[in-house]
Amino acid sequence: MAHAKAAGRDKSKQVQRPESHKTPIKKVVWKPGTMLCPVPVVMVTCVGRDRPPNIVTVAWTGTVCSDPPMLSISLRKERYSFGLIKETGEFVVNIPPASLIPQADYCGVATGREVDKFAATGLTAQPAATVKAPLIAECPVSIECVVRRLLDLGSHTMFLAEVTAVQATEALVTPSGRLALERAGLAAYAHGGYYALGKKLGYFGFSVCKRKGPKKQ
Ligand SMILES: Cc1cc2nc3c(=O)[nH]c(=O)nc-3n(C[C@H](O)[C@H](O)[C@H](O)COP(=O)(O)O)c2cc1C
Repeated sequence: MAHAKAAGRDKSKQVQRPESHKTPIKKVVWKPGTMLCPVPVVMVTCVGRDRPPNIVTVAWTGTVCSDPPMLSISLRKERYSFGLIKETGEFVVNIPPASLIPQADYCGVATGREVDKFAATGLTAQPAATVKAPLIAECPVSIECVVRRLLDLGSHTMFLAEVTAVQATEALVTPSGRLALERAGLAAYAHGGYYALGKKLGYFGFSVCKRKGPKKQ
C-alpha cells in the first residue's frame, strides 16, 4: 500500500471509541457468499488478434501487489472477453465515473458476440501506450495490463496481471502533479447496487496524525 509520510504521526494516540463497544450488537449468520463490499466496478477493454475491441464490466477485481504493480480480474469462461484476453494476454482496466454507470451496466449485460459495445454506448476507443487493447477515453483512469498468470478457481478464472502503464485524464492532474481523484466522480458496487462515492472521511494515517483538522491537499 502507498504510504504517506510518517512524520507528524503519533501511533500511541488514543483512537476515538465507537458508541457500539458498550452495547452488544446482535448478528445473524449468513450463508457463505461473495459479500465483500464495496468493490470497484470497472470496464475492461480487450481486443482479439483478428476481432474488434470489446468492453466487459467486471466487479471481481482488485490490487494484488505493489511491486511489481499487479491487479487481478476474474472472469467466467463463457464470457466473450475471456477468449479475447486469453488469446492476447492483455487488457485495460478503465475506471468509470458515476456518470458512466449506465454504460458500465450495459457492458455487463450485452455481449461482444452480438454487439459492438463501443458503437452501442458511444464511448471512445483510444490507443493504449503499451498494449493493443484500446482504453476508454471518457474514463478518468485506465490501467494497462499484461497477464502473468491464470488461476482456475471454479466459476471464475483469475487473470493475474502486471500493470505496464497508467493513463489519467490530464485535467485531473494538479499543477503540483497530484492526481485529483476526488474530482473524478468515482463509483463503487455493493451487492448488486451501484453507488457514487461520498465525502472524503480522512487520509492514510490521519487517525494518528498530531495535527488537528484536515490535511491540506
Ligand atoms: C456490475 C457488473 C459486474 C460484473 N462483474 C463480472 C465479473 O467480475 N466477472 C465476470 O465474469 N462477469 C461479470 N459481469 C458480467 C459480464 O460483464 C457480462 O456477462 C458481459 O455481458 C460479458 O460480456 P462479453 O460477453 O462481451 O465478454 C458483471 C456484470 C455487471 C453488470
